Amino acid sequence: MSTQPQEAKRKKVTIHTLNEKKAKGEKITYLTAYDYQTAVIEDRVGVDLILVGDSLGMCVYGFDSTLPVTLDIMINHAKAVRKGAPNCFVIGDMPYMTYQVSIEKAVENAGRLVQGTGVDGIKLEGGSEMCDTIRAITRAGIPVMGHLGLTPQSASMLGGFKAQGRDVDAAVKLVNDAKALEDAGCFAILLEAIPAEIAQIITERAKVPILGIGAGKYCDGQVLIVNDLCGFYDGHIAKFVKQYANVGKIIEEALTRYKEEVEQSLFPEAKHCYKIDEAELAKVKKALGL
Ligand code: KIV
Repeated sequence: MSTQPQEAKRKKVTIHTLNEKKAKGEKITYLTAYDYQTAVIEDRVGVDLILVGDSLGMCVYGFDSTLPVTLDIMINHAKAVRKGAPNCFVIGDMPYMTYQVSIEKAVENAGRLVQGTGVDGIKLEGGSEMCDTIRAITRAGIPVMGHLGLTPQSASMLGGFKAQGRDVDAAVKLVNDAKALEDAGCFAILLEAIPAEIAQIITERAKVPILGIGAGKYCDGQVLIVNDLCGFYDGHIAKFVKQYANVGKIIEEALTRYKEEVEQSLFPEAKHCYKIDEAELAKVKKALGL
């Protein structure tokens, strides 16, 4: 029997956990993940929420936007993340055109995403115009996170990837949309790229947790795209990102050393090779007439 102290078992994060954190003023931590190993690390460090975001279109597939991501792509990645992070509250992003066409299609596709992967909930973009859809999905028993502000699936309509809610009409609309999403049954709302003061008003008024990305420090929690945070993305990095590491550089250095060592016959060394007994080798050589 092991004499090592048992590592304290982490409790599964639920909607109740998130509400409790908001009530106590404890910040909620939220990150994207697209693969098993990243999910394992995020679960190990104790992140509350994981988003299998459609940002995987850019981070994993090299697309120019999130629009080409399909439900099948999302399901594959969400399965891997779910397996790696059993204790986090995992959210699957609803890809473009999987929930905009009709309410029936939206419920069906949200069901496919949850049933096919085991994620705890889904996220979709949009304001009060999405409320009937949100009501229908929550009626089917699926927790929905709303997404307001810079909504990348409609970036073209918004005039590009730029901050939102910076004039009176747009800011008031954001505040009203957040209330509408909460009333429609969203268990939490993500605010992207809006002024910190507007996010503060929304956070203070909301009963549900408000998560921010580029929405300042007053939100109930923060989310970042894991590749941005780790320095593992070559594309545009938004103003709101803090880069905590440069994993891309570490990988590049490792691959460069590997290439050089192979070219110079420095790798593999004896310790990387399998051995055969001398007598056995002699028999092999004899059998081969060597
Ligand atoms: O897809 C995504 O990664 C997002 C971010 C804004 C968190 O929605």
